[in-house]
Amino acid sequence: MKRLAVSMFVIGMLIFQTACGGSDVREEAAEAVVESIENTAETETDIGEEARAAENAETEEVDVAEQLPIETDTGAEADTEDMIMKITAGETTFTATLAENSSAEALKELLAEGPLTINMSDYASMEKVGPIGTSLPRNDEQIDTGAGDIILYQGNSLVIYYGTNSWNFTRIGKIQDVTKEELLEAFGDGDVTVTFSLESETPVQEENGTKEDADEEAKALVVYFSATGNTKAVAETLAGLQDADLYEIVPGQPYTDEDLNYRDHDTRATLEQNDPDARPAIQGSIPDFEQYEVVYVGYPIWWSDMPRILYTFFDTYDFSGKTIAPFCTSGGSGLSGTPGTIAELEAGAVVLDGLHISGSSAGSAENSVSEWLGSIGLAK
Ligand SMILES: Cc1cc2nc3c(=O)[nH]c(=O)nc-3n(C[C@H](O)[C@H](O)[C@H](O)COP(=O)(O)O)c2cc1C
Repeated sequence: MKRLAVSMFVIGMLIFQTACGGSDVREEAAEAVVESIENTAETETDIGEEARAAENAETEEVDVAEQLPIETDTGAEADTEDMIMKITAGETTFTATLAENSSAEALKELLAEGPLTINMSDYASMEKVGPIGTSLPRNDEQIDTGAGDIILYQGNSLVIYYGTNSWNFTRIGKIQDVTKEELLEAFGDGDVTVTFSLESETPVQEENGTKEDADEEAKALVVYFSATGNTKAVAETLAGLQDADLYEIVPGQPYTDEDLNYRDHDTRATLEQNDPDARPAIQGSIPDFEQYEVVYVGYPIWWSDMPRILYTFFDTYDFSGKTIAPFCTSGGSGLSGTPGTIAELEAGAVVLDGLHISGSSAGSAENSVSEWLGSIGLAK
């Protein structure tokens, strides 16, 4: 196996020396992959998984849009545009959009005075219902309910639906992107205290809206390890293009030139690569790692793999729910299956198609990096 790796490297280095060309950016487009936050242990080429995630996201958006047109006008209606409602039960808070009618307006005025706490009970295994303590104007119409619908019943009770019903009552709003199971888990069986509050400043869909909207707000992180500066150059280009934070993985014990001498198989880097359990120490840690949704991870290829210090890195941080975009530099080998390895190490993350840049092109990689960002749906 190692002999094969050595041969691949030698061939790679020959290619590198004779034909330093552009990157081998993959051509498969995965435009909506950013919208998927579900688990995958597949390799970087699993476009099927990504397409399904994109489909789901589309469906959810259509659902919300059809039922509750969200105001997009500016100017005089800016207050209404920013209006969202928070619904809290125990540890769980949902975000809801409000309907455009006088009933929702009246509820908004009520909530502007402060949060409203309602004791809600089960009814017919399809809803939680409780008294508001006052009456709101009614705009009754025949409505088919679904999970997350918030209804005004007889002008004085709020209802949150898990299930389907068809009745003549008033639509107040809708909890976004929620399933019956999620509602049941949050509200439980029997009576529950539910708090309704208004947040006028928060952009619509910030918390549980589409991934695309969230990404506009989220700060990305570029993390890299670079022993001789090539990967660092690409990382800096990438961070500049994405306005991302930059973090260097610094070894506890820095690599000397001799450590990196791959011609001598007894030197440190090669010995580490030959030992699957080697986990070289890393200095320091990433501040507030939890804040990042998209993490670009860069490394050189060492013996057709990531340097072992990357394994230390992936052991250290929990990437569940995050998106990883891998990039590497090398003498001639490509990505060498490293995105697939990362997907195995971080089963709770979505791992996007990777970027390979020839080490000799690392200082002029902007076009290749931009093209890659476009292909994985992360271009700014
Ligand atoms: C120990 C070691 C092993 C390497 N193995 C490979 C390899 O398998 N294939 C390859 O194309 N380049 C290999 N290289 C070359 C590096 O991948 C390349 O020079 C890379 O751009 C260095 O990035 P850096 O400057 O960010 O450290 C190896 C370099 C070292 C030090």
